[in-house]
Amino acid sequence: MTESLELHVNGERIVAEVEAGTLLIDFLRKELHLTGTKEACSIGICGLCTVFLNGKTVSSCLMPAVFANGGHLFTAEGLQAVMDRDDVPEGAPDPKLWRIVQESFVECEGLQCGICTPGQVMSAVGLLKENHRPTVDEIRHFMAGNLCRCTGYQSIIRAIELAAERWGQEHAAV
Ligand code: FES
Ligand code: FES
Repeated sequence: MTESLELHVNGERIVAEVEAGTLLIDFLRKELHLTGTKEACSIGICGLCTVFLNGKTVSSCLMPAVFANGGHLFTAEGLQAVMDRDDVPEGAPDPKLWRIVQESFVECEGLQCGICTPGQVMSAVGLLKENHRPTVDEIRHFMAGNLCRCTGYQSIIRAIELAAERWGQEHAAV
């Protein structure tokens, strides 16, 4: 049995038929070949599969693809597509914030093997979207659901602190 699916992914309209019960992570990786979203635990613990759906971060390994029906979804591949547009597509993180977070991860060496990085970046964007100037404790608390097997946590926290500082300045300037 199949289910019909219609949604926007990285700003592009997608219409598809998926096997009933297909998980969102499998739809993204296997059907759309958007392999920037990673999978490890498959039970909602590690944060690798984090994507943005309708402006909120979700674990795509826990969610049936049909739950995203009618939605606006963004994956790690979406930044360039968002930045290439004059407007911010519905449900997208602010491209300036997204880019600030990515650049801060690179500058602070907040990645080693990089497997957890797409999920870390998505979650950090989700945090700074809601809280422009989080404390270190708030960052640690919010990011507790994103695991890094390379255990680069200090650099990840530093990267988010730097991004928060820059994002705060961006807001102060408006
Ligand atoms: S793969 Fe989804 S939370 Fe770990
Ligand atoms: S950088 Fe390797 S798992 Fe996090």
